[in-house]
Amino acid sequence: MEANFWHKCWERNTLGFHQVEYHPLLERVVLPELLKDECSTKQHVGVWPNKRVLVPLSGKSDDMIWFAEYANVVGSELSKIACQDFFKEKQLNIQPKRDGDFFVYRHENISLWQGDFFSLTTDLIGEFDWIYDRAALIALPETMQQSYVNQLKNFINPHTTLFLLTLEFPTDEMSGPPFPVDELRVSELFSDHSVTCLHAQTLLDKRFAQRVFDVSHLVEKLYLITQS
Ligand SMILES: C[S@@+](CC[C@H](N)C(=O)[O-])C[C@H]1O[C@@H](n2cnc3c(N)ncnc32)[C@H](O)[C@@H]1O
Repeated sequence: MEANFWHKCWERNTLGFHQVEYHPLLERVVLPELLKDECSTKQHVGVWPNKRVLVPLSGKSDDMIWFAEYANVVGSELSKIACQDFFKEKQLNIQPKRDGDFFVYRHENISLWQGDFFSLTTDLIGEFDWIYDRAALIALPETMQQSYVNQLKNFINPHTTLFLLTLEFPTDEMSGPPFPVDELRVSELFSDHSVTCLHAQTLLDKRFAQRVFDVSHLVEKLYLITQS
């Protein structure tokens, strides 16, 4: 998808992908994985001051608020409207600061880097313990997916865990975005990484955030990806 497509979505407020609640697998599946590293129980966890999570193609997702309870959050988002609305909806008026090609919105332990994800570097935003991809890879057509994953890999070091959410549905039943990405495709894209499917569920109501898809089946999968 070209930048213009996404700018139009934000201008027209056609945000069917935006969830009004935290993704349910964060609490059920992601949190136990985060805690594994830390030998902690949820009751005793505050923000881990040294932990950092990257949320590529973040939109104005409140999943960033969920992560901010545990770690420092860096979101990457193309749209100025998305970045402004993320904070405005929390009654925060944040003035962005320019950093090269980016505008950076900062509040407490959340930073949103407004600009092109493909231009971000570790020199600019640092390294990460976790990466959370919800509706980012699957937002991109097949022709862009490998470049996106290659850029993502620049932020995966031996200590980084990537949580990747995908959707599977028959390719010929709906044109994207979102685009279906099955297990074989995930393995191809991350062929030099270790890929584990942590969770798979058939979405019987065919609902994806604010949209209901007209497809014969819809499966959501959550993968854990690390350097092999
Ligand atoms: C399908 S939405 C998903 C947003 C978010 N992850 C969520 O779960 O709500 C994809 C988002 O990626 C953003 N985007 C697309 N291309 C981008 C790029 N090259 N750099 C940064 N953000 C981009 C779009 O503006 C849009 O907000």
